Amino acid sequence: MKASDNDNSEEPIGQAVELPEIGSRESYDTLMEVVRNRVTVRKFDADFIVPESHFELILEAARHAPSGANAQPWHFIVVEDSEIKQRIADYFVAEQRFRAKAKMKFPTPDYRGLATAPGFIVVCSDLRWVEAFPVMKEESPDNAELNRMYRENAERILIQSVAASTMCAHLAAASLGYCVWWVTAIGQENAQKAMRPLLGIPDEISVLDIFLFGPPAQEPYKRWKKSMSEIASRGEFDPAQCLTRDEITEWIKKRRHKVMFRDASRID
Ligand SMILES: Cc1cc2nc3c(=O)[nH]c(=O)nc-3n(C[C@H](O)[C@H](O)[C@H](O)COP(=O)(O)O)c2cc1C
Repeated sequence: MKASDNDNSEEPIGQAVELPEIGSRESYDTLMEVVRNRVTVRKFDADFIVPESHFELILEAARHAPSGANAQPWHFIVVEDSEIKQRIADYFVAEQRFRAKAKMKFPTPDYRGLATAPGFIVVCSDLRWVEAFPVMKEESPDNAELNRMYRENAERILIQSVAASTMCAHLAAASLGYCVWWVTAIGQENAQKAMRPLLGIPDEISVLDIFLFGPPAQEPYKRWKKSMSEIASRGEFDPAQCLTRDEITEWIKKRRHKVMFRDASRID
């Protein structure tokens, strides 16, 4: 049978992939060294210059990420101009102050460190790509609720896709010896409006996060991670892991600021 444009069957192999042997500890251990040692810092050595080849290696990792419908709905802007970095940092510092005034009680980090990042990449997406995922093509009063439900999921597919690509970039940076910082405090409409003109971003494009990397200004540390039994179950969901709203509120009140800013050994 001749393949048509609508043929959904898998193609025969064109470009083969080289997989390690099943169960290869060597490649797992190499990967885990990077995964385990990828840590966030919020201030960098501002004098360091990231070689051009490192940007290429990092973005090459982002390019290979999986995505819903293979739509690859991402775009990365490498920011080099220190004045623009400073202006973005200033915006975030103002946002930090706003949050304090608005009494959000979120332990907002010190965003002045943004301007110190030698690696500064703004992660964008065109949200119209949700159309590439399963959504109703025409809305009518009859399907409005279904449409809302599918669109909500389509937005999640898009965000997960961009996050997958961003994570590949973060791991690539960590594998090159850099510390990283993932900043999402950017999604609000007013932040979008402030950011777009600085980087020539069209109105159709949204800024989803900023990816910063570089050598750390201070000794980095490993943050607390949940235990395996807290995050995974076998066979069926472990009911002990379904917290009550009060337990979540308590966690946010008592632990959140510690796990965000302290070394794993200084949590309890
Ligand atoms: C989706 C996502 C959003 C984040 N947003 C922010 C942010 O807006 N500001 C910030 O300072 N850190 C942000 N972080 C970094 C987290 O605070 C950090 O990853 C977490 O505390 C765990 O520390 P670790 O990265 O060292 O393991 C974000 C991380 C992720 C994955």
